[in-house]
Amino acid sequence: MEFFNFGCCNVTTLMICSGVAVLGLAAFRYFAIIGRSCNSKRRLDGKVAIVTGANTGIGKETALDLARRGARVILACRDEKKGKAAVSYVKEGSGSENVVIKKLDLASLASIRTFSSEILDEEDRIDILINNAGVMFTPYCLTEDGFEMQFGTNHLGHFLLTNLLLDKIKESAPSRIVTVSSLGHVMGSLDFDDMMWSKHYQAQKSYFRSKLANVMFSRELGKRLEGTGVTTYSVHPGGINTELGRYFFAGWKIIFKPLYISTMWLLAKTPTQGAQTTLHCAVSEEAEGITGKYWSNCSIAKPNKLALIDEDCKKLWEYSEQQVNL
Ligand SMILES: *[C@@H]1O[C@H](CO)[C@@H](O)[C@H](O)[C@H]1NC(C)=O
Repeated sequence: MEFFNFGCCNVTTLMICSGVAVLGLAAFRYFAIIGRSCNSKRRLDGKVAIVTGANTGIGKETALDLARRGARVILACRDEKKGKAAVSYVKEGSGSENVVIKKLDLASLASIRTFSSEILDEEDRIDILINNAGVMFTPYCLTEDGFEMQFGTNHLGHFLLTNLLLDKIKESAPSRIVTVSSLGHVMGSLDFDDMMWSKHYQAQKSYFRSKLANVMFSRELGKRLEGTGVTTYSVHPGGINTELGRYFFAGWKIIFKPLYISTMWLLAKTPTQGAQTTLHCAVSEEAEGITGKYWSNCSIAKPNKLALIDEDCKKLWEYSEQQVNL
């Protein structure tokens, strides 16, 4: 063993040190990254839930959990092939047959209108709406209706969808509307003169703006729904290792794959862990009756102070109504 002795640093010390480091990192991950889980046991038999962007990532895991609780779950997906695979996944994982896919492209107002009118025809009730779908850091491009892609999909698409479904959601009260935002919204700001970046597009800033809009929309919606029994929630799910990072990490991944994987292992939640705050807001007894708040780690959290300016929340609502012709 002489060979492995480098002064004070021998094999045993090295092993102990690495062991302690691994345990330390695991503890860090457990407390600082994963955080609280939704521990509500509430059943949802006879209830109907819609999850947008449910074909992958946290949306798919959210759908799975809701199906396990007995809800009828509608997976609203843009990609029907992936959507079908997700339906099988949710059916298998939950043992429920009451899971369906429905085509929804949030980058198309026509698709949102078709989806909504079919839902209103076919479903007796809507107890839970999860506005989960999102695109992140896309290159500059426009939706079918000429909106910048991230703001158009993440905010305007969900704005219209929610409004079109709202009467049925009210009829089904007590019901809940959860909008998945992100901590990134704290770096966002609005510009009513050029909301959709017709001048200098910056992918990150546009994403943060769309996530700030999610928080403001949820807050204003909560206010407008006071007394109806419908409550609203915006959520930071945590940093998740999902396909959302497909644009951001595209280059990075190839060059530093091992570094990327270990960073993700340490700092990113799994999709199941990432679904917990959404589920907490959608089902828990603890979140019952609370409305318009921003949530993180299954607790109420402080959003960007820009999201707390009532006048701007109202202005964003009216701006959005105009954009989607509501
Ligand atoms: C989540 O909250 C729990 C207790 O409420 C706390 O111990 C934990 O550190 C928090 N985790 C994160 C990631 O904020």
